[in-house]
Amino acid sequence: MMKKASVAIGFAAAAAATASAIPCATTCKDNNDFFKPISASEWVEAANPGWNAGNTLDAVPSEGSWNNPPLAPSTLDYIQAAGYKAVRIPVTYADHFVSGSPDWTINSTWLQRVSDVVDMATSKGLYVITNMHHDVSQVTANQTMIQEKLYASWLQIGKTLACKSSMVALEPINEPPGSTAADGANLMRLNDLFLKALADSGGYNAKRVVTLSGPTMGIDGIKFFTAPKNATNPWAFQFHYYSPYDFDFGAWGKTVWGSDADKAAMTTDFGYVHGNFTDVPVVMGEFDASQLNCEAAARWKWFDHVVRTSHSLGFAGFLWDNGLDNLDRATGIWRDATAVNITMKATKGEQNSLADSTTDPAATSQNSSAYVFHKTGDGVTEQTLPFILNGNTFKTLMMGSTMLKEGSDYAVSGSNLVFKQSLLSTIFSASSGAGSKENVTVTFSQGAPSQVELVQWDTPTFGSYSGAAKDVPAGADLWIPVVWKGLHKVAAVKIQKSDGAYLVDDWTQYLPTLQQGRGTYGSQWSFDQDRVTITRAAVDAVIASGTNTTFTFEFYPRAAANGNYVNYTLTV
Ligand SMILES: *[C@@H]1O[C@H](CO)[C@@H](O)[C@H](O)[C@H]1NC(C)=O
Ligand SMILES: *[C@@H]1O[C@H](CO)[C@@H](O)[C@H](O)[C@H]1NC(C)=O
Ligand SMILES: *[C@@H]1O[C@H](CO)[C@@H](O)[C@H](O)[C@H]1NC(C)=O
Ligand SMILES: *[C@@H]1O[C@H](CO)[C@@H](O)[C@H](O)[C@H]1NC(C)=O
Ligand SMILES: *[C@@H]1O[C@H](CO)[C@@H](O)[C@H](O)[C@H]1NC(C)=O
Ligand SMILES: *[C@@H]1O[C@H](CO)[C@@H](O)[C@H](O)[C@H]1NC(C)=O
Ligand SMILES: *[C@@H]1O[C@H](CO)[C@@H](O)[C@H](O)[C@H]1NC(C)=O
Ligand SMILES: *[C@@H]1O[C@H](CO)[C@@H](O)[C@H](O)[C@H]1NC(C)=O
Ligand SMILES: *[C@@H]1O[C@H](CO)[C@@H](O)[C@H](O)[C@H]1NC(C)=O
Repeated sequence: MMKKASVAIGFAAAAAATASAIPCATTCKDNNDFFKPISASEWVEAANPGWNAGNTLDAVPSEGSWNNPPLAPSTLDYIQAAGYKAVRIPVTYADHFVSGSPDWTINSTWLQRVSDVVDMATSKGLYVITNMHHDVSQVTANQTMIQEKLYASWLQIGKTLACKSSMVALEPINEPPGSTAADGANLMRLNDLFLKALADSGGYNAKRVVTLSGPTMGIDGIKFFTAPKNATNPWAFQFHYYSPYDFDFGAWGKTVWGSDADKAAMTTDFGYVHGNFTDVPVVMGEFDASQLNCEAAARWKWFDHVVRTSHSLGFAGFLWDNGLDNLDRATGIWRDATAVNITMKATKGEQNSLADSTTDPAATSQNSSAYVFHKTGDGVTEQTLPFILNGNTFKTLMMGSTMLKEGSDYAVSGSNLVFKQSLLSTIFSASSGAGSKENVTVTFSQGAPSQVELVQWDTPTFGSYSGAAKDVPAGADLWIPVVWKGLHKVAAVKIQKSDGAYLVDDWTQYLPTLQQGRGTYGSQWSFDQDRVTITRAAVDAVIASGTNTTFTFEFYPRAAANGNYVNYTLTV
């Protein structure tokens, strides 16, 4: 599959093009003891679990351009305190070249920043992996130029990092595109050029751990991957995991996850990775199911199964964090500490007890033991939350600093936790406003604690319930002010035209009730603390359809019959 002739052409082109620009290979001044060569397996084991400094040095055009400030030492302290052992530092070089073909000289200030951030992490004892992130977007474009640029870039990055410790690993390209055998062959040439650039850059780079991947870094890309023939570097295989797509990305109303079939599908995916790489260590370089768009109990089950399964196969897992979905870098607060705790315990192979929730995709309502929901105006009654104990027993329930009393505040009935009416009536009442009232931390005989949020809800109110698509300013999204009454979160949005047909993804009519006609988070809708959003693309789709369209925003708890939704009609 990997043709030596074409590889040689790639090398020749790169070597010829960059000959004038290549300074001598780096010689490290340190005593060689500083770099203790380690195998890829040792690196993978020591780097698990890891965390991604996402949307940071990979932001375009530069660090600080997106939602995060420049990476601060305190951020690394927070992730280390949570138990992470490694940091993946994605870096985009695209806007930092000071010359083009053939030299592709990278701004030395930027290379110094990358070097400093790597040192910031290793000085704290964190393992590091860094890459070129948003740089190779078209594998099918001018291959000569891509090869030339990749080789020249890695020669410079390699020289910059040549004398770093063996805790620092390198990854050629994030999620390189490609879906054909030819794309795969092109990528394998780039992998070889990356290794050649490291060898040519000197220092300790020929012995440095690297990861290599197939196109996209997804499971399907594995079939186009071939191992490098002459690698001197110890190497691991890297893949990314965001599956199933619809659950992970808030698509088509898929808010339910955790059936035996769901878990089996994930186990099969990981089995493919392991089956192809029985003798090669594996890094899951990115995975996440964001709390922004995933229901909590489903997310916790997903995290537990991802981390537990990958750990059992010896993979290292790196949580993706774009700065909005996991760690609040300003405060050091994890937006979903339960998921982090589940990760840490599952990484140790400890059994976690998990909040149960609806798993049947055909269900017409969704319940979740991450919450006690009480609707404003209803009588307060005791509520039973089922848990998946996984062999553990309930230990304590803490509400703030108060330890709840078994018997009077709650009862345990098998794997169910019963919140007594006597407790709930002190928290919920017809006269009190809706909102999140308390968080209870449930601990078990082992494994992560689980949070139960006590929420009194009512249907949110909107600033308006209809509008004309033509009145939305050109190029703008439609923002609708919202007053939240329970969780500050949209579960799903059904988008139906006045003729009954669905505005987008009409095929969703064949999906179960909770998914029919639902759009996708980010594509047609989103929300924040102050408003819900109908995206420009959705407004344009309404205009193009020429048909008045109703957007039904659904909230948690999700049920067709409970009235926890708001209709917004967009007229043409
Ligand atoms: C390199 O980057 C620094 C910092 O952004 C900038 O001030 C400088 O002008 C750049 N150098 C070149 C040659 O573009
Ligand atoms: C492809 O890239 C090489 C190297 O940068 C360049 O010399 C050549 O002109 C490019 N070919 C085309 C068709 O653009
Ligand atoms: C492998 O090594 C041989 C001999 O050193 C060399 O000719 C060839 O170009 C190398 N191939 C790759 C893919 O590095
Ligand atoms: C290798 O991965 C592919 C998916 O790309 C999968 O179809 C195949 O079954 C895997 N092989 C083994 C031995 O697991
Ligand atoms: C996670 O575990 C830590 C340490 O045990 C604990 O302080 C924290 O409260 C836990 N968070 C949750 C949400 O359970
Ligand atoms: C969901 O609610 C139904 C009906 O109230 C109940 O029978 C079921 O046990 C609940 N399941 C979970 C996982 O909470
Ligand atoms: C409970 O925790 C969630 C985060 O998981 C938070 O948004 C909410 O404000 C907390 N509720 C209370 C009453 O502190
Ligand atoms: C909300 O919109 C849906 C879909 O168009 C419709 O079936 C339902 O009757 C509407 N509900 C209300 C209260 O208007
Ligand atoms: C859309 O709704 C408006 C307001 O109810 C109505 O006047 C108009 O006739 C409707 N347009 C179509 C194409 O149904």
